[in-house]
Amino acid sequence: MYQAIRRTTIAAMKRRNALKWTLVGVGGGVGALAVGGVGTLAYVWNDVKLDTAGKVDFARPLAIPPLAESTRDASGARVFNLDIQAGRTAFKDGRETETWGVNGAFLGPTIRAKRGEEIAFAVHNGLDEGTSIHWHGMHLPAVMDGGPHQEVEPDGIWTPQWTLDQPASTLWYHPHPHGRTGAHVYRGLAGMFIVDDDESEGLGLPAEYGVDDVPLIVQDRKFDDDNQFDDSGNFFSMQGILGDEIMVNGTLGPYVEVSTRLVRLRLLNGSVSRLYNFGFSDDRPFSLIATDGGLLPSAWETDRLQLSPGERAEIVVAFEPDETVVLRSYPADEGYEGPLGRFNGADDQLDVCEFRAAGVLADETAIPEAMGTAPDLADAEVAEERSFELSGFNQINGESMDPQRIDFGVREGTVEVWEVTNVDGFMHNFHVHDVQYQVLSVDGEEPPERLRGWKDTVQLIPHKRYRLAMRFADYTDPNLPYMYHCHILAHEDAGMMGQFVVLGEGEEIGTVPEGGSVHSHG
Ligand code: C2O
Ligand code: CU
Ligand code: CU
Repeated sequence: MYQAIRRTTIAAMKRRNALKWTLVGVGGGVGALAVGGVGTLAYVWNDVKLDTAGKVDFARPLAIPPLAESTRDASGARVFNLDIQAGRTAFKDGRETETWGVNGAFLGPTIRAKRGEEIAFAVHNGLDEGTSIHWHGMHLPAVMDGGPHQEVEPDGIWTPQWTLDQPASTLWYHPHPHGRTGAHVYRGLAGMFIVDDDESEGLGLPAEYGVDDVPLIVQDRKFDDDNQFDDSGNFFSMQGILGDEIMVNGTLGPYVEVSTRLVRLRLLNGSVSRLYNFGFSDDRPFSLIATDGGLLPSAWETDRLQLSPGERAEIVVAFEPDETVVLRSYPADEGYEGPLGRFNGADDQLDVCEFRAAGVLADETAIPEAMGTAPDLADAEVAEERSFELSGFNQINGESMDPQRIDFGVREGTVEVWEVTNVDGFMHNFHVHDVQYQVLSVDGEEPPERLRGWKDTVQLIPHKRYRLAMRFADYTDPNLPYMYHCHILAHEDAGMMGQFVVLGEGEEIGTVPEGGSVHSHG
């Protein structure tokens, strides 16, 4: 019954959208926008904003991605087999959805390994087109990065290997083929990568995977009438696909049975375009304990946490026995009051996941006073300052990505400060491969609390200047670049991306090998 009502609501919402598009179409489509101006745009978008608060039927237990199995090879390296494949997934009643996944039909297993371990992968591409697996947030040699230069051809096998050397953190992996990242992620290729270390294991934080330490890969999808992912994009938006249904770990309308007082949630905005502003339905406070690159020195209490695509956060929330509360995404707090925010869903209100607390809750964990180490680059000697302007849908400093062009080289062992500005009124964010950075300032001011830990992706509020400090500790390669880009995947794919190499002493920028760096086959 409830289910039926909900379906009707969403169907009605879709019809209303269609109607508005028709009205705009009659008025002359995009031309009418120029004539009608911002007023028309505001009218259209304000009228179709989504509000599913209190309307989602949380009828399915949240799927927990399995932990990836591994074996040890003769050298002692831990080896994971990742098999990229096409399949079908039953998200809802009716026809199954054609999806892609890793070691399964949709999404991938959670990879988990510890700092200091040698890790190795056999990534097999079982699709009939090329793809790659990029380890987002990982410090590693460029040849292992899994970007556009490590595309794996159909039936090819790619075998990257490196020593895991960074603090405990919640990272993720996803494809990164040139121009097709958005499509591949939308089809289902993504997973979490949890890094552990000795320090974090001794802290007494909630840490039982899937019980009181729960991964939440939050994504939006649009389904067509035949239950297939609708990837037609949005009319007159270059921001990419904005879905009207939220899934977590591939579960629509998920609920979680809570058995402990404190629960740690590892949040990943795995959407291609959508901005989330997480909070709970009763506005209860929660503690931010980790940002992209690892644990904060101490927890920060808040009741809202805004995450743009690609960003992660670990939060700890406290529950009372027998209560039910919903994790929700609220309209954005920062930067998107105007109609342009609409393109990334900034004024939507969406129910995400329901938490149902048991009558008796175990109470054996706590948030310690001191956790990770604070970013320490504010007073570092700066070898180079660079500035980056993101503009339109496809440009950084007036240029679009060219896989054969290396934009600049940085020196191994040095600290650089990159000043990054979104010159548009709509959303961009900024991700750098290989490093975690410190946000030194935002428009000359101290960064907001949520940006005080190590970050690899940061939302760029329009027209503000973000000063980011990063150290390029090691792994030189004059020929194979790392990427920096907007993580709104439609922008990344359109070319809002550049490349840099890390150079050893005396080394010069080289030449990107044509055809990439992956040569092994299945
Ligand atoms: Cu999450 Cu270059 O990517
Ligand atoms: Cu990345
Ligand atoms: Cu962008």
